[in-house]
This record gives sequence, structure tokens and C-alpha cells, in this order.
Amino acid sequence: MGRLAILGALHEEIADLLAAMDPGAETRRIAMRDFQLGTLWGTPCVIALSRIGKVAAAATASIVIQEFGVSRVLFTGLAGGLHPQVRVGDIVVADALMQHDMDARPLFGRHEIPLLGRERFDADAALSALLLDSARDFAANGGLPGAAAQPRVHHGLIATGDIFVNDNDLAHDLRQRLPDALCLEMEGAAMAQVCHEFGVPFAVMRVISDSADHAAKTDFTDFLVNLARLYTAGILRPLLQSGALRDA
Ligand code: ADE
Repeated sequence: MGRLAILGALHEEIADLLAAMDPGAETRRIAMRDFQLGTLWGTPCVIALSRIGKVAAAATASIVIQEFGVSRVLFTGLAGGLHPQVRVGDIVVADALMQHDMDARPLFGRHEIPLLGRERFDADAALSALLLDSARDFAANGGLPGAAAQPRVHHGLIATGDIFVNDNDLAHDLRQRLPDALCLEMEGAAMAQVCHEFGVPFAVMRVISDSADHAAKTDFTDFLVNLARLYTAGILRPLLQSGALRDA
């Protein structure tokens, strides 16, 4: 039976998951990362902090696949909203991911991953559907205690790049170039490429912390410190407890 891998880029994004693991979880340290192997809400998991960016995410995904033979990989964390319908506090589950900073023109098309002949990596439909259901339940129950507005749950394209977008002009350019992209983050499509190459199903779930504009740094930091962990646990706990991800 394969474990579920749960990856996040920053400690705050996975802190509650690590704290909720059953006692007796084993830590394996590989390539300067700690991998926690144990049971989370009844589901065998390996949880790891990838650190930020595409290389870090790709390395971490390779390790969980090769060292631990995981059956699925889930990346969770925050993202900057890009699409006009996506607001701070909303939840995005990827149906596909792409690398907005990949540009090997004129050798290959803009955004095309050289020699793979594709721009986008499709998330696993079954795992994404489970995440969407759980995220919708979380939102329907009011999301966070005391939250002003009920979060909306979106399903669509996530754009990844090695840039923290904190600039109105760049956000505008990305919005024009990728009109269907819902949000921006820095790991998902790199993990997706590795999972695609290994044939391992994957999904990405992101909570919108900022609008990728001039205020993004402050908004992101506030959200990270105060709210990020509540979403992750609030959405993943019922899903893992349901047993839907217990078997490969
Ligand atoms: N993750 C959260 N907010 C982000 C942003 N504005 N740009 C890139 N990644 C992010």
C-alpha cells in the first residue's frame, strides 16, 4: 500500500498536519529535508517541507516517489490570486498546472516544457474531486471562524514560476498572457512535471493569500502567520478521516 505524500513550501503551511500525526512518526532526513512518515487522521502519509521554488519542489517530489514509493502526491499552501474572480481567502484546486516562467523561444513555444512537448500537466481527476468536495464542505460550513465572507472554491489552471509576484505590472502581464490562470505560486507545476514523468497521480490545493500586487508581501505574510494552517487542516482532516485516500 502506498503512502500519500503531502508537501508544502513553508513550515506554516504544513505545521498543523505535522502536529496532528500519530505519535511514533519516523523522521528520515534526505537531501537537507525532513520526511515525516506516519499516520495522519487514519491515512498513511509522508509529510515534507519542500522549501520554496521549482527546483526545491521537484527535488522533494523525486524523493517521495523514489525513496518512499508514494501512491499520490498532494501539494498544499498559499497562492496569489490572478483571475479577477479569485479573492483572498478563496480556495483553488488545480485541474492543470503550467510554468509561466518557462520560455525557451525560439527553440520551443512559449511555456512549452522542452522535449516533453507540452505546456500543461493535468492533475489527477479523482484526487482533485475529493479535494474539491472537502473544500466545498469547509466553505459551506463558513470557512474560518469569524471570517467575513464565505470562501469560494475554484477548479482550474494554476501557474507556477520562480517569482514571488509583488508587482501590479507583472500581474497584469500574466493576466493578459494566461487569461484562464486562477492563481500564482512557486512549486506546483514543478512537482507536477516530476509526477508526470514518474506516472504518479498528483493534486495541488492552494488558498489565496494575496492578489499578487504591490501589497502581496504584507498580505501573504499576515495570511501565512494567522490563517494558512487552519485551512489546510480544516480541509484535509475530514478527507483523510473518510478513508478515501487510505488505499493506493
Ligand atoms: N504564493 C503566494 N502568493 C504568491 C505570489 N504573489 N506570487 C507567487 N507565489 C505566491
